[in-house]
Amino acid sequence: MKLIVFGASNSSKSINKKLATYAGSLLLKKLKDAHMEILDLNDFELPLFGADLEERIDPPENAKAFLAKLAEADAIIISFTEHNHSYTVAWKNLFDWCTRIEKSVFQDKPVVLLSTSPGSRGGANVMERALKSLPSYGADIKANLSIPSFFDNFDMQSGELKNPELKQQLEQAVSTLR
Ligand SMILES: Cc1cc2nc3c(=O)[nH]c(=O)nc-3n(C[C@H](O)[C@H](O)[C@H](O)COP(=O)(O)O)c2cc1C
Repeated sequence: MKLIVFGASNSSKSINKKLATYAGSLLLKKLKDAHMEILDLNDFELPLFGADLEERIDPPENAKAFLAKLAEADAIIISFTEHNHSYTVAWKNLFDWCTRIEKSVFQDKPVVLLSTSPGSRGGANVMERALKSLPSYGADIKANLSIPSFFDNFDMQSGELKNPELKQQLEQAVSTLR
C-alpha cells in the first residue's frame, strides 16, 4: 500500500504537514507492506493561476507532476491549513491548475481529511469547505478530524499528539484507510 500525505500549506514549518506525517506514521504502525511518501507543496511551485495565463502557456509540469503523485497513491491523508477561514493560496493555486488538467484531482482515492491550527477551532472552517467540495473532485472521503489548539495538544519534541483522546480519534480516522 502506498500512502501519500501532505499539509496543504507552503510553510517550511507547517504544523499541518507535521500532523499529516504523524497521522501517516500511526497508520503505518498498523500495516505491513505499507510505505508513506510525504509531499511538500514547495516542490510543486506554480505561477498564479489566471485565465489569460492559461491561454498563453501549456499545462504546467508541476501540476501534472502533482496529479501523477496522487495517481500513485492507494490512500491519501491531507491536513488543511486555514487562512482567513479558507484554503491557503498555495493549495488553492495548485488545486486550480490541477482541475484544469483533470477535474477528478483525487482520482477516486480514499482520503482522510485533517486540519489543525493554534486556535480553538483547529481549522474547522476550512474543513467544512473541504468536506463540501472535495467529493466533486474525486475524493472518496473516509473520515475527517480537526485538531484544536495544536501547540497545547501536540508535543513538538516527540512529534506526537500528547492528548490521549485526540490520539485515539486520529487513530480511528486513519484506520478507515486500511
Ligand atoms: C494570513 C493568515 C490567516 C490565518 N487565518 C486563520 C484562520 O482563519 N483560522 C485559524 O485557525 N488560523 C488562522 N491563521 C493561523 C494559522 O492557523 C497558523 O499560522 C498555522 O500555523 C498555519 O498552518 P501551517 O503551519 O500548517 O501553515 C492564519 C494565519 C495567516 C498567516
